[in-house]
Amino acid sequence: MTVTAPVTTAHRSSADLIEAEGLTVAHNYHPLPVVVARAEGVWVEDVEGRRYLDMLAGYSALNFGHRHPGLVEAARRQLDQVTLTSRAFHNDRLAGFAEGLAELTGLDMTLPMNTGAEAVESAIKVARKWAYESKGVPEDRATIIVASGNFHGRTTTIVSFSDDPTARTGFGPFTPGFRTVPYDDLAALEAAIDDTTAAVLIEPIQGEAGVRIPSPGYLEGVRELTRRSGVLFIADEIQSGLGRTGTTLAVAYESVLPDLVLLGKALGGGIVPVSAVVGRREVMSVLQPGEHGSTFGGNPLAAAVGSAVIDLLRTGEFQQRAQDLGEILTARLTALIGRGVLSFRSRGLWAGVDVDPAIGTGREISERLMAEGVLVKDTHGSTIRLAPPLTITADELESALATMEKVLTR
Ligand SMILES: Cc1ncc(COP(=O)(O)O)c(C=O)c1O
Repeated sequence: MTVTAPVTTAHRSSADLIEAEGLTVAHNYHPLPVVVARAEGVWVEDVEGRRYLDMLAGYSALNFGHRHPGLVEAARRQLDQVTLTSRAFHNDRLAGFAEGLAELTGLDMTLPMNTGAEAVESAIKVARKWAYESKGVPEDRATIIVASGNFHGRTTTIVSFSDDPTARTGFGPFTPGFRTVPYDDLAALEAAIDDTTAAVLIEPIQGEAGVRIPSPGYLEGVRELTRRSGVLFIADEIQSGLGRTGTTLAVAYESVLPDLVLLGKALGGGIVPVSAVVGRREVMSVLQPGEHGSTFGGNPLAAAVGSAVIDLLRTGEFQQRAQDLGEILTARLTALIGRGVLSFRSRGLWAGVDVDPAIGTGREISERLMAEGVLVKDTHGSTIRLAPPLTITADELESALATMEKVLTR
């Protein structure tokens, strides 16, 4: 038997690793040319030892920063106990995790999954089954209303109701049963609801669309319409939830409680993929053994990290930080209007910034910021999304925004 040395990334340069990745990893992303090797808090370091301030935070998966000590400790402790049981057996961490989610959201029951897309898929199944059993919608006729500009993930069913050609083209045939209405349009939503409608599925703030914030009263209106029509309101809080906007859930901005809330990203503390559908008991109770599942959903490691995330959010500290630091973000971006920034939308520590295309595309600006030690990512042409860890200090935020000002005004 020949024993060869294990493949290692030690001593390989960024350029070498990027080239190798291009040859061996599917090209479903176009990352910025930075190869991260280490990270702590809001800082990441590349293989050559260059440091960058992470102003994207894994699209909100790193709300508590990289390797938050409390979260790493919770994971370490659990690694020494038990990491996976599958749901064939009970584990001693799942009940506490679900109790924590109920307390955090004001809802009753949790369906634990792993990725965001799985939570969305699971909610679609729950809503359809609920419509057949509780509303008497004829078999296979249930519809779910979604909003234009949505982003809910990448599975075949989810891209079936995307209106982004890049997400859809080449991936049909698509799953039927979805109806799209313009986002932030209550009249269109009301007109689209009929006897077959099981649910309305929306993002309280559309992240991928460029941090699109609906008009005041929209979420309240969706709640009122869905309640009146006997339709479920499903809020996809996978990106907007867990402190990002200054409240635990973005729907809290209008004091609205949906029937189902979808969580993901930050729920895994930046350590493990953890997602959940959290909902009213009457709705969640439609699922019976064997009808839905996931080998990894609700595993003890995920539940331990998720519970530690809930503990962090229980204090309200991070929600408050998002509010306070959000004021700095808004003030600095306002000062950039007409100086490289055309417009922006923000809530809490989350902003979509439309840069002047005359200065460069979103991608070019992101690369220039990278060269100055600040990591962001573009979305849709000339929009840049800012979502730093909620652990960022005011000085670090000021410094990142000063770099942005420098790049946009030189
Ligand atoms: C609102 C929303 N829903 C769902 C998803 C899909 O999550 P995942 O990439 O974990 O499948 C995302 C990811 O960006 C998202 O922003």
